[in-house]
Amino acid sequence: MKKNKANDEISTIGLHPISDVDIKRLSDLKRIGIFGGTFNPIHNAHMLAAECARAALRLSCVVFMPVGVPPVKKMVETAAHRLAMTKAACASNADFHVSDYETSNDQISYSYNTCLAFTHQFPDADITFICGADAFMKIAKWRNYEELLSLVNFCIVTRPGIMEGALDDFTTRIEKKYGKKISKVRIPALEISSADIRSRIAVGEKVRYLMPDEAVLYAINNGLYMRKLQEPRAKARLKKDLSQNRYEHSLAVAEEAVRLARIYGVDEDLAYEAGLLHDCAKGMSPDGLPPDEAGYNIEFTEYEKSKPATIHAPLGAVRARTVYGVRDAQVLNAIRYHTIGRENMSMLEKIVFVADYIEPGRYEDESIRSARLAADTDIDAAAELKKRRNRFEHS
Ligand SMILES: [Fe+2]
Ligand SMILES: [Fe+2]
Repeated sequence: MKKNKANDEISTIGLHPISDVDIKRLSDLKRIGIFGGTFNPIHNAHMLAAECARAALRLSCVVFMPVGVPPVKKMVETAAHRLAMTKAACASNADFHVSDYETSNDQISYSYNTCLAFTHQFPDADITFICGADAFMKIAKWRNYEELLSLVNFCIVTRPGIMEGALDDFTTRIEKKYGKKISKVRIPALEISSADIRSRIAVGEKVRYLMPDEAVLYAINNGLYMRKLQEPRAKARLKKDLSQNRYEHSLAVAEEAVRLARIYGVDEDLAYEAGLLHDCAKGMSPDGLPPDEAGYNIEFTEYEKSKPATIHAPLGAVRARTVYGVRDAQVLNAIRYHTIGRENMSMLEKIVFVADYIEPGRYEDESIRSARLAADTDIDAAAELKKRRNRFEHS
């Protein structure tokens, strides 16, 4: 981060500095809107509210400010995911910007602190804090709310017909007391809520048109809000479908994958899931797929078509999705590519690929011994040993 006088002042009052990206984007702007929220996930009602506020108040930019740690304890997706998803949603709109100010540290995010830092950094800008009517009605519970009301302008986004009388009375009282004009912006009614979207994703329903496409893509690709694997049920099913040896091998691969995940900083739950299910279609033919999956397109590579022993991997990815309810693309890809690998494998893919090769139950020959020795420090070297063995065995 470059040296910046305002940031020095901000640090002196105990707040963390504003990033160079924010400074570059927002310096010289006259009217900045700050739109705070958990964005868990961001959806089209947020987008519309931001756009309505921007247009009504002629803001130069609306800064989406995903909360890092909410003051009121709530279960939310990680800050990094919510930030990235919000960025994906806003990427195509030049009037929107996403700030990492609140997500870049693990302190509780208070709107007052954020606004204080922004007024220091951008002293010539007119700063407006945008929030929903229900949040605003509870403003007396916010940290330093009186100072906050004196510090910045407020814009309340509200849906027609929602607590209009009560909201009008409340804002009039606040305006009189703090000598500030509080703008109200009506947004066309949209009954979209983050909670509803989360439960739709959890049961595998589509959420297109409720959220910006880019945010949907991000959420799905990263497995956000998906129901975690029901482990006892998955194990019972695997036990039924696989031979005893294959079942025990699957458990061992899952454990080995978790061990490697810990070493390489990968999500252990995802590693466990992928390891457990990697061979879930072993010994099955494409005809064994559930009928409702007729529309799911399995693309076998030429290589796979010529080597029947390898097709349980692509079939396994489909089965993991349809029979076991796995929705996480990373897990599905780790299963999909566990036999022959692919170019540029993700770390999770490599982990499952290698764990399958070195799990402790496998007879140790020269290649496996070397792979076991390499795995903890050089996963690529271990993966290379398996690939070499594949070339030999499949040739
Ligand atoms: Fe396999
Ligand atoms: Fe395997």
